[in-house]
Amino acid sequence: MNAVPPVDLRLQHQVVAEEIGQGFAAVFDKTAFILGPAVREFETAYAAFVGAKHCIGVANGTDALELALRAAGAEADAEVVLPANTFIATALAVLRAGARPVLVDCDPVFYLLDVEQAAARVTRKTRFLMPVHLYGQMAPTEKVDALAQAHGLTVIEDAAQAQGARRRGRAAGTCGLAAGTSFYPGKNLGAYGDAGAVTTDSDEVAGRIRALRNYGSEVKYHHPELGFNSRLDTLQAVVLNAKLKRLAGWNDARRAAARRYDELLADLPAVTPPRTLAGNEHVFHLYVVRVANRDEVVQRLNADGIGAQIHYPIPIHLQGAFRGLGLGEGSFPVAEKAAREVLSLPMFPEITADQQARVVASLRRALG
Ligand SMILES: Cc1ncc(COP(=O)(O)O)c(C=O)c1O
Repeated sequence: MNAVPPVDLRLQHQVVAEEIGQGFAAVFDKTAFILGPAVREFETAYAAFVGAKHCIGVANGTDALELALRAAGAEADAEVVLPANTFIATALAVLRAGARPVLVDCDPVFYLLDVEQAAARVTRKTRFLMPVHLYGQMAPTEKVDALAQAHGLTVIEDAAQAQGARRRGRAAGTCGLAAGTSFYPGKNLGAYGDAGAVTTDSDEVAGRIRALRNYGSEVKYHHPELGFNSRLDTLQAVVLNAKLKRLAGWNDARRAAARRYDELLADLPAVTPPRTLAGNEHVFHLYVVRVANRDEVVQRLNADGIGAQIHYPIPIHLQGAFRGLGLGEGSFPVAEKAAREVLSLPMFPEITADQQARVVASLRRALG
């Protein structure tokens, strides 16, 4: 009865249910299931929301990253520098685009790409830098830009966890040639199934992605290049249109919840709360703390009905899928230590002060 879930998507649904129901009815009425008007409506609204010239809706965030890399000219052997501590999809997208992932460690405070270490991994084959705006805050994009400019590299952002995040006046999704984002249901802007998008200011990249997502075709049954079937589903676009109108308010609510956690944790020195990199407007996709005896603490929290999770328990280089990189334990000590110590407390816009107090009381008990 006193359980606190990691996220509670039902509460958001109650707010948008009627609008979504009407939107679905309109789609059914017109049977406009594939690339129906709701898709373009969402693309226009989301481009305006982030301040990008184009948004192209695709089937999911992994495809968004892969198509962004492909449209930006990733070819075999092109090296793409990305952090070792991210969701597996960032690295999978690089491989699927035919390029080579080159992992680097993160910084120990914000868990963002360590740009100095990225600089040390740049070779003649490096073509792309792929910063990940992890947990809801942006990587140090001005440093990423400087590195890219120094070596003629292209920046593709992974903005899957950062819808609405800003850094020094620029929004996540507008800082590179293109960005991929995910509307997986639990994201700050979540669909009711898989969905994603690419944002870009480049007419050329946008045009290529529009073709790539649609079997490599701009004119029906004409396929000048190989493509994919990766379109944003019209019904998902209806959901996203309804939710996008509320996203700024929901992000404000997440920030308020994060401040409440900060206060509740102030007298618990065994818990390191998340910190915001100067210049960032965080959107707290996740509220990630650190504790020394993490596995035990998570078990105790879960036993208490508190939906604590781990993002992520295994860095990319130690995943079986990436054993081919030949990077063993000790390759990225900061990311590895973080993987042993991080835990995510329940975080969603509607979380109440009472629920947060229960989370922290349980955490206090778990720490003994
Ligand atoms: C950082 C990051 N990159 C990429 C993705 C992939 O998105 P999707 O699950 O929509 O393919 C996700 C989310 O799942 C993510 O968190």
